[in-house]
Amino acid sequence: MRRVLIAGNWKMHGGAAEAEALARAVARGHDVPIGREAVLCPPFTAIPVVAAALRGTQFQLGAQDCFWEEKGAFTGEISPPMLREAGCAYVIVGHSERRRHFGESDQQVNRKAQAALAAGLRPIVCVGETLEQRESEQTFGIVEAQIRGSLAEISRASAPEVVVAYEPVWAIGTGRNATPEQANEVHAFIRGLLGALFGSGGGEAIRIQYGGSVNAENARSLLGQPEVDGALVGGASLNAESFLKIVGA
Ligand code: PGA
Repeated sequence: MRRVLIAGNWKMHGGAAEAEALARAVARGHDVPIGREAVLCPPFTAIPVVAAALRGTQFQLGAQDCFWEEKGAFTGEISPPMLREAGCAYVIVGHSERRRHFGESDQQVNRKAQAALAAGLRPIVCVGETLEQRESEQTFGIVEAQIRGSLAEISRASAPEVVVAYEPVWAIGTGRNATPEQANEVHAFIRGLLGALFGSGGGEAIRIQYGGSVNAENARSLLGQPEVDGALVGGASLNAESFLKIVGA
């Protein structure tokens, strides 16, 4: 059984004080339902305070990006071992905002995912088509190329540690989520592809999150789909009450 994974991607919101308050509001006295995991991904500078706020709770810590080298002359970058030491269990790689604003390629995302795994972090590997690509019926081709590229050379043994987040770009931050059926259709396609890449064991073990305008109202119907194993939540994760509703949905 795949454990449902709800992750909050705070993006570039919150200095340490704000992040600490939000983390405490999320974790204080709240259980994560059995069979589920919940992760908060604050900006880098807030990781230490959020780690402290989550200690002893059922909520886990993640980062929003990493570099692929362990250390060296890479000004401005943060490595997977640094994130591990800071208490992270997960790291998002290849978010569409990084692909778009920073030109990240599938090959770079792949190096990040492999480096994360090597450091003992679970990578949340993001894929998804733009509106133009969906309207020209390229969704499956785009998603397949992103998955094949981003997960290249990952071993069958490591595959169960990988999480895929299907995030249609047109649904991110727009208030226009994919319908549960649209999400499930792409998730089922991804599931088949993962089976081809990692064998049925690996393919069945990898969790596939949906992301893009998930909120307290639509979470239940999205998570009710058989191939939807969780949610990557942006805007709605910045409010403790709405994030907790999604965690419990
Ligand atoms: P959103 O962001 O929930 O605000 O649409 C999702 C994401 O970018 O991961």
